[in-house]
Amino acid sequence: MAAVKIGFYGHVRQYHNLKAEIDNAISEVLESGSYVMGPKLALLEKELAAYCKTKEAVGVNSGTDALWLALIAWGIGPGDEVITTSNTFFATAEAIWLAGATPVFVDIDPATCNIDVNLIEAAISPRTKAIIPVHLYGQAARMREVAAIAKAHGLLVLEDNAQALGARGDNFEIGELGNAVATSFIIQKNLGCFGDGGALVTNDPDLATTIRRLRNHGSLKRSHHSIGYNSRLDDIHAAVLRVKLTQLDKWNDQRRRIARLYDEGLKGTSLKLPVALPGYRHIYHLYVVETPGRDALQAYLQERGITALTHYPIAIHQQEGYPWGHSARISGSLAHTERSSAQVLSLPMYPELTAEEAQITIEAICAWDKSQK
Ligand SMILES: Cc1ncc(COP(=O)(O)O)c(C=O)c1O
Repeated sequence: MAAVKIGFYGHVRQYHNLKAEIDNAISEVLESGSYVMGPKLALLEKELAAYCKTKEAVGVNSGTDALWLALIAWGIGPGDEVITTSNTFFATAEAIWLAGATPVFVDIDPATCNIDVNLIEAAISPRTKAIIPVHLYGQAARMREVAAIAKAHGLLVLEDNAQALGARGDNFEIGELGNAVATSFIIQKNLGCFGDGGALVTNDPDLATTIRRLRNHGSLKRSHHSIGYNSRLDDIHAAVLRVKLTQLDKWNDQRRRIARLYDEGLKGTSLKLPVALPGYRHIYHLYVVETPGRDALQAYLQERGITALTHYPIAIHQQEGYPWGHSARISGSLAHTERSSAQVLSLPMYPELTAEEAQITIEAICAWDKSQK
């Protein structure tokens, strides 16, 4: 058995570090008797909007629902196209399909793995209604360029911010330039609850009201309904997230410190390291390296007790059965997406990871890299 054990996630460490506050927050909800659409959700929504510097935040039950409900709220559906990337978590495209619309995939910028903004215009057709840039791995997409294209073509912009809460661009905030932002609170995110959760964040009060209605069976007022869904964020999750939100900047700073250790320790190797754009605040939801020897390196680390995972090893357009009888379109080549998905490896990255654990991981990677020469 390996002498060290460096896990991929730090959820339990994080819980132990905040145990008293979290236990107290949960117990307050339990004692209150108010579990759904209660006061903790209302408080979290206020605090999250303030954190994001937006007018509104609406809690829903997942990041997927935040994406999907925004598309539905905008009336995007069959016959409409939405431009995005194929190297993202499946839910980005799934939300477009769930709305009945057609995802149009463009390639990524190989440096950042975010959407290549130079390829967006060529993907626009008369049916295009929106763009979903994904702030992948914790770094904002080039939103100034995305917003300028959207404006020129009358398109909506929905930012997929499941991975980058607390990140910033060089001269913009996430949420400042798009029409809406979808975020996820699933446990492994930088701000995670103990289950599923998400939020739609926006400066558009009408959109926020529509999402509030849609998430609660089409109801804004007791006993008054139109068609909607059940997609609420429970008060227990909201209470936990309120505690954790106060720590988020500190945790993201810690992730950035670990990223510096990895950057420094791995810079002499053959691995492609993450690229942080100048002036951007990358918050390293994931620290993703690339190497053609990805599978071998992953196995080598695992043998030494270090768990590294892949995000995402199969691009959406390469999933078996794609597109499952639904419509989809690929604009140009997805060569960078395909190369990246075959080579990506995410190293352990969480605020509770110690410098010593990062160093052990670095040394193991360097030893593997040397053995390849
Ligand atoms: C980029 C991206 N989009 C969307 C989602 C969907 O979020 P959720 O799992 O909360 O539905 C996730 C994460 O799971 C994600 O990483």
